[in-house]
Amino acid sequence: VEYEIGRLDQIDNQGMCTGTADSVEVVVFRLDDGRLVALEDRCSHADIKLSEGTFEREGAGGTIECFAHGAKFDVCSGRHLCMPAVTPVKAFSVRLDGDRIFVTIPE
Ligand code: FES
Repeated sequence: VEYEIGRLDQIDNQGMCTGTADSVEVVVFRLDDGRLVALEDRCSHADIKLSEGTFEREGAGGTIECFAHGAKFDVCSGRHLCMPAVTPVKAFSVRLDGDRIFVTIPE
């Protein structure tokens, strides 16, 4: 199911914006080429919002580092890249319609 979670002008200086899709907290990242990607806004290590961490763009993608204990995730796939995370976070597809941001949450 697709949910509207925000608008382009809500993306902050770090390149992130957050919203809620159904009951899922989502963080959207804007990559260097303007593409948008989204992850569930919850670290897989503990109940901490990834959007409070540090987003770094790298090449065509990027990483988000959890501020709590330093776990890193690939913002495109949600793959966990280092300890203490041992599982990935969910990645969602994003669609832009004008300046409106839509995220698809699988049923
Ligand atoms: S809660 Fe994110 S690394 Fe521990």
